[in-house]
Amino acid sequence: MPSSSTLVPLSAPDKAHFGLPDLPATLLALQAEETIAFLGTCRLLVCRGGVDLLGTTLTASRSNYPVFAPRSHAIPIITALPASPSSSLKVLALPEHFEQTCAQADAVVILQELRSGVEGLGLVVPPFEGIFSPSSSTSEDWGLAGFQPLTSDTYALQPYTLPGSWARAVDGFVPQERDPLEEKLKGRVALVRGMKNSGKSTFARGLANQLTTRYQRVAFLECDVGQSEFTPPGLVALHILTCPHFGPSFTHLLQPYKAHYVGSSSPRADPSHYLAAIDALLQTFRLDVQFIPAYADSDSPAQADQADTRIADVVPLVINSMGWTKGLGARLMQQVEDLASPTHIFEFSSLDGSTNPLDTFQPSSAWASRERQVIPLEPVPPSPRLAQYSAPLLRALGVMSYLHSAGEGTVKWTTALPLCAMLPWAVDPKLAFDQVVLVGPGAEDVVPSEVGTVLNGALVAFVALDEPAEHRPAAHAGHTLPYEQRRAPPSPFSSTCLGLGVVRSFHPTTGLMHVLTPLGPSQLSRARVLVKGELELPIYGFLDHRQTEEERAKGLGGVEWGKVPYLEWGGSRGVGGERARVRRNLMRRSHL
Ligand SMILES: Nc1ncnc2c1ncn2[C@@H]1O[C@H](COP(=O)(O)OP(=O)(O)O)[C@@H](O)[C@H]1O
Ligand SMILES: [Mg+2]
Repeated sequence: MPSSSTLVPLSAPDKAHFGLPDLPATLLALQAEETIAFLGTCRLLVCRGGVDLLGTTLTASRSNYPVFAPRSHAIPIITALPASPSSSLKVLALPEHFEQTCAQADAVVILQELRSGVEGLGLVVPPFEGIFSPSSSTSEDWGLAGFQPLTSDTYALQPYTLPGSWARAVDGFVPQERDPLEEKLKGRVALVRGMKNSGKSTFARGLANQLTTRYQRVAFLECDVGQSEFTPPGLVALHILTCPHFGPSFTHLLQPYKAHYVGSSSPRADPSHYLAAIDALLQTFRLDVQFIPAYADSDSPAQADQADTRIADVVPLVINSMGWTKGLGARLMQQVEDLASPTHIFEFSSLDGSTNPLDTFQPSSAWASRERQVIPLEPVPPSPRLAQYSAPLLRALGVMSYLHSAGEGTVKWTTALPLCAMLPWAVDPKLAFDQVVLVGPGAEDVVPSEVGTVLNGALVAFVALDEPAEHRPAAHAGHTLPYEQRRAPPSPFSSTCLGLGVVRSFHPTTGLMHVLTPLGPSQLSRARVLVKGELELPIYGFLDHRQTEEERAKGLGGVEWGKVPYLEWGGSRGVGGERARVRRNLMRRSHL
């Protein structure tokens, strides 16, 4: 922890000099190996030397990054790296009055207040209340609201540590600056696999982050529908990343390049749709992304940033897999691996060392002879401190974070209003959608007259079709909604999921639907198909967090509990609780 003498608040002209917004900011001069651990949020800019953050090396540049450090996940630590000849080449010019403070420093960073509103999610999803603030007040105050440097107050926190095997694995995969061009231009595909909670997502995110320091674009394929990295749960998605993302997944929900809705927290109900979705995303990666420079899409190649020295001609791919590694899950992951033919497989060994011989991954004959490396990694030891944040709770947080996010490309959340008080889009589904599709166990039993009831209060996906006209169904004279029982979702090869939303109400007489979604009008208007899957809106989405205990005891939004729509007090079941029958679709031979 640096002493406060090396902390210098920035003036307004200083901030303008670094291209930073006019919010409180402080400059820190660090000696090699000095560390800053913190809770909360901030914006980070490295202006001299380099630092390590969550396994990613950041060197001086004009780019600044939001960093999110909640206690529900491993706490990030900024570590100053020793000054090296190569890092000193990349110095940002400092205003003169800082020169004296920084003369002896190995690394100089600026930390700035980040007003994202992410803390408000703790009010919406109470199990996460206060995750961005320390449990006791600390004496250190750096003048940045929402940012708490940690000194000894580390009780009940889990710091991020970088196991040696992880660091070596990343170094071995990411090309070095001194590597010959030929080496740099190789197509690299990494697949991360292992058990639940072994650290897959954290490692995959770190690997993608480090790759963004060498490549202008990095592709990320999420195959874990239960814990998606850059989208809410239920989706398999292909992302193109251009900068690192520091924080757990609920703090960086991005618009995917292409995505498909599975509608469940596991591919169990429809393995063949899951595999087709991944296959389609891999094809998109190979055909549209891997060797096509970004500026090929834009009108003028001159738009490509001349100052960006990162590799532009090839895009590496990082694939994160699901933690379901037994039985059917293992066989599905084997198929994903065959489709992806990774050049490197990063494998978390199982802690107990016991594996069923059927569950071990063996290269199938199709590409057994191909070159690939399997790199074993140490799993993170189970942490009792983080265990209270279970997978279903994190999924609920992911959905609520998405629904409260201020929209595309922003790091902002608005939680002043609960979902029940937000202004919705009024949509005429007959005009807006060609099809309404229900997927998941029991969906095939929903008759057309009931579909409006099923959609009320439902979490839904908006899907765009490549060729909308071809899929236009025959007229549905009798029904208000374009729904056909047992209709399959659109093929992943000719559609993409734009994002999710909530059907807050469907009025059968007017035929109007009220829809909430962070998608902007340009995206939303591309949607032609509405898909409802097995995933329901979390209970937090039905409540009003502004209420006092006393108000909540009486009812919701001025309506007494017995009459509140969608909710049954006491049973507290979500909408459709009475409808959803537990039925796991049987696995058919044709699925594999
Ligand atoms: N290197 C690490 N140091 C400390 N904690 C970690 C590290 N990697 C992961 N964790 C914590 O372990 C838990 C599981 O990690 P995660 O990456 O989500 O695993 P998986 O994707 O395999 O389920 C998370 O709470 C995460 O914050
Ligand atoms: Mg994961």
